[in-house]
Amino acid sequence: MRKKITIVGVGHVGATAAQLAAYKELGDIILIDIIEGVPQGKGLDLQESAPLELFDSSITGTNDYRDTADSSVVVITAGIPRKPGMSREDLLDTNVKIVRSVTEQVIKYSPDAFIIVVSNPLDAMCYVAMKVGRFDRHRIIGLSGVLDSARMRTFIAKELNVSMDDVQAMVLGLHGDAMIPLPRYSTVSGISITELLSEDKIDRIIDRTRKGGGEVVNYLKTGSAYYAPGAAIVQMIESVVKDKKRVLPCAAYLEGEYGIHGIFMGVPLKLGANGIDEIVQVKLTGEEMTALLKSAEEVKKTISQIKL
Ligand code: LAC
Repeated sequence: MRKKITIVGVGHVGATAAQLAAYKELGDIILIDIIEGVPQGKGLDLQESAPLELFDSSITGTNDYRDTADSSVVVITAGIPRKPGMSREDLLDTNVKIVRSVTEQVIKYSPDAFIIVVSNPLDAMCYVAMKVGRFDRHRIIGLSGVLDSARMRTFIAKELNVSMDDVQAMVLGLHGDAMIPLPRYSTVSGISITELLSEDKIDRIIDRTRKGGGEVVNYLKTGSAYYAPGAAIVQMIESVVKDKKRVLPCAAYLEGEYGIHGIFMGVPLKLGANGIDEIVQVKLTGEEMTALLKSAEEVKKTISQIKL
């Protein structure tokens, strides 16, 4: 039997993730949204691409959480996206309410699901979902580093004119301008980019990575990115449903790792059928550690404004 994957919120991000997950036959997909007709319409449309893309995953659109019962994975994309000039933190009040009510519904029907939070401000929304759903910390992560490092990998590959296949990058910390791209742990076929690019070029790549989400928002004007976020979500789902044990940077609830307690933040972790198998603790320089702690302070500041 195929696994059941629920995607909550069928805007551009949710729909793109559903499409890619279906093409990879990662499971049967439930699309759920509060807007009547949209999940049904997008679900039917995607289902009708099956004979062309050759997949057997079934796609169901619904407004009723009962249809999400016993999901293995639930992706929460619900919430409003930012517009030009807004930070992810500006979405806090509205998205706290949305993520809280979604989580209550999700947990009711799928108490054992693995949860991937995508709504922004990301690290704070993971916190809301975890507190509301009382999830074991191994069963909930947020989309941050996989997306941010994909952006960094893109910029590195373009700068060096090398294949995307050979470029890896590591981005830790919060999903916002204070994220921490780590050039020492970013490589082309195992060669650190610090050996391949000047400091000036690396600084420009770091800056563009930090502002990567905003760069797309400024072009789109009406919403935020979705192709790269959708692909990043699917990479995370795949590692869980196929028990791949990939080591990916994701937001996780920290209980002392990196000296940080009680908040979600982006760290490398091993992701398999049981969710988080391990939080990988890489060695950081004094400067990198200072940046990580500063990032943690920002997350704490945001969650201090949340009333649950
Ligand atoms: C971005 C949003 C999804 O970084 O946070 O594009």
